[in-house]
Amino acid sequence: MKVGRILLVLALALAGGGPAGAPAAAEPVHRVSYDKHSLMVDGQRVLVQAAEFHYFRLPSPELWRDILEKEKAAGFNAVSVYFDWAFHSPAPGVYDFSGVRDVDRLLRTAEQVGLYVIARPGPYINAETSGGGFPGWLKLVPGRARSSAPGYTAAYRDWLGHINPIIARHQITRGGSVLLYNVENEYAVNTDAAYMQDLQDTARGHGIDVPITTNLCCDAASWTSTWASGPGAVQIPGVDDYPQSFDCGNAATVWGAWGAGITERVRDDVPVFAAEYQAGAIDVNNAGYEACRELTGVAYTRYFPKSNLITSGATAFSHYMGFGGTNWGWLAQPNDVYTSYDYGAAITETRQLTAKYDEYKRQGYFLHAVAGSLTRTDPVAAPAAAGLETLARANPDDGAQFVLVRNPGTAAVSSTLDWGPYAFPVTLAGHDAKVLVGGYALGGQRLVASTSEILTHETIGGRDVAVLHGNQDAPGATVLRYSSRPRVTVLEGQVTTTFDAGHLRLDYTHTGLARVLIDGGGRRPLLLLLGTSEAAASFWRADTAAGPVLVRGTALLRSATARPGTLALRADTAAAGPVEVFTGGRAVTVNGERVPTRRTPSGSLLGRLPGPRPVALPALTGWRQHAEAPEAAPGFDDSRWALADKTSSLSPFAPLTQPVLFSDEYGFHTGSVWYRGRFTATGGETSVSLNAITGKRGNYLVWLNGRYLGSAAGGVQADSDAPANPSPGAGEFAVPAGLLKPGGPAVLSVLVQNMGHNDDWTADDNRFRQPRGLVGARVNGSAAPVTWRIQGTAAIDPVRGGLNNGGLYGERAGWTSPGYADRNWPSAGTTVPAGVTWLRTAFQLDLPSGQDTSVVLRFAGPPPAGYRAVVYLNGWQLGQYGAEIGPQTDFVLPAGPLRQNGRNTLAIAVIATSPSSVTTPTQAVAGRQRGGVQGS
Ligand code: GAL
Repeated sequence: MKVGRILLVLALALAGGGPAGAPAAAEPVHRVSYDKHSLMVDGQRVLVQAAEFHYFRLPSPELWRDILEKEKAAGFNAVSVYFDWAFHSPAPGVYDFSGVRDVDRLLRTAEQVGLYVIARPGPYINAETSGGGFPGWLKLVPGRARSSAPGYTAAYRDWLGHINPIIARHQITRGGSVLLYNVENEYAVNTDAAYMQDLQDTARGHGIDVPITTNLCCDAASWTSTWASGPGAVQIPGVDDYPQSFDCGNAATVWGAWGAGITERVRDDVPVFAAEYQAGAIDVNNAGYEACRELTGVAYTRYFPKSNLITSGATAFSHYMGFGGTNWGWLAQPNDVYTSYDYGAAITETRQLTAKYDEYKRQGYFLHAVAGSLTRTDPVAAPAAAGLETLARANPDDGAQFVLVRNPGTAAVSSTLDWGPYAFPVTLAGHDAKVLVGGYALGGQRLVASTSEILTHETIGGRDVAVLHGNQDAPGATVLRYSSRPRVTVLEGQVTTTFDAGHLRLDYTHTGLARVLIDGGGRRPLLLLLGTSEAAASFWRADTAAGPVLVRGTALLRSATARPGTLALRADTAAAGPVEVFTGGRAVTVNGERVPTRRTPSGSLLGRLPGPRPVALPALTGWRQHAEAPEAAPGFDDSRWALADKTSSLSPFAPLTQPVLFSDEYGFHTGSVWYRGRFTATGGETSVSLNAITGKRGNYLVWLNGRYLGSAAGGVQADSDAPANPSPGAGEFAVPAGLLKPGGPAVLSVLVQNMGHNDDWTADDNRFRQPRGLVGARVNGSAAPVTWRIQGTAAIDPVRGGLNNGGLYGERAGWTSPGYADRNWPSAGTTVPAGVTWLRTAFQLDLPSGQDTSVVLRFAGPPPAGYRAVVYLNGWQLGQYGAEIGPQTDFVLPAGPLRQNGRNTLAIAVIATSPSSVTTPTQAVAGRQRGGVQGS
């Protein structure tokens, strides 16, 4: 047996002694180590199958458990989590980890659910978050971001000083479940080794003792460092792969546009880690997330991750994203995403499970079942099948073989797989792949070979239960070895058997679910369930103290607990119907209720479960309306606004005029900002030239002495990806004749919709420090000086955080909050003038308890061109709707912000560039299941 180099990570920290002030190194609860094949916990090899989840994109801590349980139920054993610095720090030195920012609760929940955590605190995270996770205030800190510059260093150390201790106490070495710690993110260009090293030294100083990783992007050709050796090297470099690109609009034709998705080995002595493996896509072309789900759909998921598994030998995977969530508030980076971050993921933004989820489950259960063998394999010669590609790996210790059979073409192929003494018929659809297993200890059985894929095998009630599957109508053959001919009883379906020289061969066509009982032959009994892939996906597995159980018929199995004589399940149902339970126990409860059951010929328990109750959502009526924008009126008192008088900034973008009007310079980093420029008119004014940078999807509206002059689109990203645009968001506004009286006062009022901060993917200040707000303002025809004042967000919302509110008048005056008294507002009409108008209504909900109802706010699309609507539910900014923003018409109202049994208030800010007819939204049910996480 080859003994790999085993690195006891903890020993490093202990040997180093740790910097002063570091927590004392206690005896670890568990030890993490690794060799070239896999990670190990307490010496046991672990195959890491993670899904990415962003708690900050689900403002509902009670629902974090829902997502984590759904991941776990799909066979994921880990969750990968970015921690978004900007989400926790609205101002320098201010950090908040309460409520929706309670990451301690998140990590505790992951532990309770039984998921390892890959912790990714950045400081830079990308992730289509505003600033790539950098707080807006960082733009005012000197020193290049993502480098060892002192100003940046002090800032990120402060962040890590807050987040690392929380992560540290949840490490597996201390009884928690954090298994890996990821520094930085795709730090591949403009690299600085001293910075990479300091991130790790800082983490170690804060008590991080699990292996440190980083995620490299995306192909070796572009790497300036792999962080595999030398200063800044991490222990386990991981690699990101997005083989399908982000071209959701062409989902039907894209296939491996960005490569084969084979994770590269960057170090010989550590496991191959697919740190971000594409599991969805951002919707850069506004095709809608269903198109992204198709781009990265079942076919992609069957072909690419399976190919990677066998080709790369990777034993640690993280799929980006498992659940995408919502860019609520001003979380989003403006250029690539809109409110929804659904991502076309396996679990939708409304928390519903998809066909893609089923595919991850088939693979997740398989990986769980075979991990013992698959975590230590080497490439071997593969059995051949004409017209198909085959590749194989084998475990040198137990001899288990894993054979990838794939069809790279688009037409179905029927062939023969020459595997040892056998010539098996195999049929693969176009672009399909399977991983077949042979020479394998299937529980107490010996699997010689099978052309069906393994879903799972468990020992339940003293016998083995194995579920194998294949495509509908595809031929299947399974060969098992026995010392003598066993008794074979086909309980259901059509299966033929032959026994020859100790080999029992079963031949069948995959259709429905065949059931075969095999008893004797020198082994314990086996219930072999041979089904279609669809039938396989109907199974759920869970572990209990009394051993594993399998359940069929529920929409989800959240957990199972063995009580004396009884199996207690927590499960969801989407409709009334049968439930079948494979358990050693005699009785079953589901969500606390006893389920009458009878024993089936398969030895399982069969009962019936009720479905969810119907849900009636109230109509949204009684809208009231109030126009705002008093800031446009000449007499508005702006004396308490900040004076915009700076003459320089740290941004490489040179202001087009003086003074510097960049909103960040005055502490306004989030959402809308107002400007008021005062001057004495000469009467010669002809026009006003303005320029604003907002990020994509932003705009600005202009008034002069209360007269609306019009609007323009804000400027978009100009960075090293696209040559700097000297005039990114220009607008020319003619001064109406007679509006300004010579010698009279003039006030120019400008409302700018800033859409969030550029990311810093290129580690390049041109991109990250690009300003927001006005970057140039000139009154043509006059040399009179203009005095500018600026106002943005008035106060940081202590509950919803610093990214929730911008600086609209209604936001500053509390019009978004449920308690605001709007009874004097008139009833809403159907039109709004140019400018800002607010709509408000309230509604009462009383959703059924004991069930999970997912509610969305639905606008009758398509999104309008003349206005944008910013939606607040009980003060939470949950969506932005409009043609300039994106294709989205449904906005998720998550429980938490949505009081499912109580009174709710909706406030909508309508920002119209021209007089518009507005439609008010309705509510709709996006999913309902009996069960859910309520009460847990
Ligand atoms: C990766 C990056 C992630 C995310 C993803 C696209 O390159 O590491 O943070 O931005 O691309 O969704």
